[in-house]
Amino acid sequence: MNTLLPKSGCLAVLLIAMGCEQFSPAPVEFDNSDVIELGDVHTLDIRGTVISSLPKAAPLIDEEKSALGKLLFWDPVLSGNQDVACATCHLPSNGYGDGLTRSIGVGGVGRGTQRVPGDFEPVPRNAQSLINVFWNGINEAGLFDPQQAPMFWDNRAVSLHEQALDPLKSELEMRGSSISEEDIIPEILSRLNNIEEYRTLFLSAYGREEITETELVDALVAFQSTIIANNSPFDRWMRGDSSAMSDRQVSGMQEFVIAGCTDCHSGPLFSDFELHVLGTPEAANLIEPDTGNGSFAFRTPMLRQLEFTGPYFHGGQFSNLDGVMDFYDEPQRSSNPNVSTSELDEDFLALPETDDGLGGLLTDFLSALNDPEFDRTVPQSVPSGLMPGGR
Ligand code: HEC
Ligand code: HEC
Repeated sequence: MNTLLPKSGCLAVLLIAMGCEQFSPAPVEFDNSDVIELGDVHTLDIRGTVISSLPKAAPLIDEEKSALGKLLFWDPVLSGNQDVACATCHLPSNGYGDGLTRSIGVGGVGRGTQRVPGDFEPVPRNAQSLINVFWNGINEAGLFDPQQAPMFWDNRAVSLHEQALDPLKSELEMRGSSISEEDIIPEILSRLNNIEEYRTLFLSAYGREEITETELVDALVAFQSTIIANNSPFDRWMRGDSSAMSDRQVSGMQEFVIAGCTDCHSGPLFSDFELHVLGTPEAANLIEPDTGNGSFAFRTPMLRQLEFTGPYFHGGQFSNLDGVMDFYDEPQRSSNPNVSTSELDEDFLALPETDDGLGGLLTDFLSALNDPEFDRTVPQSVPSGLMPGGR
């Protein structure tokens, strides 16, 4: 990896010598005429590191199924006490996360950052954004396998289909304690089969009289597959519009690569979808430490839509990007008492000091990865008659 600045001391010396404003990044070595079209993605080689746009075409999803899935996604009838919907924690106004450090499920009241817990603990983790989740696992060449798509901060599930039942069964997220894990799915299916509007909609979309787990999951997946934002300034720049990114954003993109952020934040979603130990601090007020996959490794999050998806990291440890940049600045060490510095990921240890020295170029580049045009519509009502999105 090319290092941008020597690891210790020199940054401060440079800044004193040059004055902060005069610090200039490496001259930009490319423009968007160097971009190569590869299938449906556009790729650019910067010093041997390939970065890629998202596919230009949105996935082809059956509209009837996704419309039905959207009603289910907003309907609290899927939760044990009929008080929490998927949308409670995955709200369009919060980039399909909830804006909270740790999500508040069963028993909570209110929306987004206004939501407060009731009798149950908040969920241990930060709600992941579902924007572009259809493409989880996508690589530089635009290739991905929906059946193997990694899910959750610790990659414990693969595919949206496997993921969908998890929140329904989770005591803290949606189930509550009045119904057992074994009984919750049959209970939800019996409720759905007793609502005439759902029976009609499922019959029309799937051609079957009875609603089973298969159709329920499929409809939820169909809706989530339509939450797409693939037209950010970065994507448009890659596809040929050289005015889509500012000069600072283009410089920031180069620094992002030179600094080694792309060792992990790679591919069109700027994630390798692998687990890494960064020794991040624990989330606030946990009963026991969150060990991630068991060894304190967490999945590289995508870096798209950050404008909408804070707070950041697996427990919402950082409320803004300046906090994240401070974390990456400074010689890398563990910020978690359960992780020793020798256990840290070597690509993390190899990062140079960057943020101040680059005068915010990295965050300028990250802002080019926001696309505000995603589905933010909220159903007026849901077939159960309950409040869409829960209490
Ligand atoms: C109480 C809040 C809450 C509710 C309700 C909820 N989620 Fe989530 N969701 C989360 C949190 C927190 C995570 C991260 C969990 C983890 O890593 O262990 C997550 C992760 C996910 C992911 C993984 C995304 C990725 O990139 O890996 C998907 C997909 C998802 N949720 C879909 C759903 C669906 C579908 C429903 C309804 C059936 C739902 N969620 C209900 C909070 C919630
Ligand atoms: C060794 C792999 C690795 C490298 C190198 C790396 N990151 Fe990360 N990044 C991660 C992981 C893993 C997380 C989540 C950690 C957690 O939740 O505990 C993360 C989180 C983030 C987040 C928060 C996103 C969110 O939605 O929570 C941002 C922003 C970010 N990184 C930017 C950068 C920048 C900028 C660089 C280069 C200076 C960089 N990263 C280098 C692996 C890496």
